[in-house]
Amino acid sequence: MSQGIENKVVVITGASSGLGEATARHLAERGAIVVLGARRADRIEALASELTARGHKAKAVQTDVRERNQVKHLVETAVREFGRIDVMLNNAGLMPLAPLERLKIDEWDHMIDVNIKGVLYGVAAALPHMKTQKSGHIINVSSVYGHVVDPGATVYCATKHAVRALSEGLRKEVKPYNIRTTIISPGAVSTELLEHISEKDIQAGTREFVSKIAVSADTFARTVAFAVNEPDDVDINEILFRPTAQPV
Ligand SMILES: NC(=O)c1ccc[n+]([C@@H]2O[C@H](COP(=O)([O-])OP(=O)(O)OC[C@H]3O[C@@H](n4cnc5c(N)ncnc54)[C@H](OP(=O)(O)O)[C@@H]3O)[C@@H](O)[C@H]2O)c1
Repeated sequence: MSQGIENKVVVITGASSGLGEATARHLAERGAIVVLGARRADRIEALASELTARGHKAKAVQTDVRERNQVKHLVETAVREFGRIDVMLNNAGLMPLAPLERLKIDEWDHMIDVNIKGVLYGVAAALPHMKTQKSGHIINVSSVYGHVVDPGATVYCATKHAVRALSEGLRKEVKPYNIRTTIISPGAVSTELLEHISEKDIQAGTREFVSKIAVSADTFARTVAFAVNEPDDVDINEILFRPTAQPV
């Protein structure tokens, strides 16, 4: 496995906006080969074209992380085109906040399918290749809400706690294969995340709170770059960051 970021093959789910898009740009600028997955093909294809035009290596693969075969295809495309997978960034997620009593059960299912099962499908797709390579790095995106539970955010918090639990188990299980694992738990970052809150009163309240304190998506990208850039014998297992102004 090469040290640093340059020439590493990095697969990113949820690369069409927010944290995933910012990370694709940041890592590509630092010499990584980025393979972009998301449902909005127009967005990731435009990003891949833009990065390629600037002399970087990038490829877009339309991917719905709720479909395990599509996640497998995303990773297999990376390995076929670029020879290996060095980093799997399981970033796709959504946060339609609402108190349990509003019974937004379809949204619970959606969060469980994307935020938990989507991450597991990413692990399943990357692991066989990384085991064969005897190297690799799996980065899973949790949240401050993977550390605390707030009323109104219960199911989202449960999914992000699950991401931390499965990542910690993964960390211990992949020791024989020289695979690194990192959990990144951001606080409030300015992205499209709040656009998918269907309860308008909750969306307005959350927007008001987040808009006052959120930091830019590049903050997250720099934490990914830090973990990836560390030498091979250093395993950055968890990064938790908040805007300085965030009280929770
Ligand atoms: N922003 C924050 O304050 C914050 C804080 C803590 C944690 N997070 C976490 O950070 C991650 C990224 O979110 P973000 O803030 O960057 O929000 P965002 O701008 O809404 O981006 C979410 C990304 O996930 C993708 N996605 C959603 N459902 C998908 C699916 N079924 N298949 C594939 N991709 C899917 C979206 O792409 P398509 O719609 O094109 O599929 C999009 O690229 C999430 O896991 C979120 O929970 C964010």
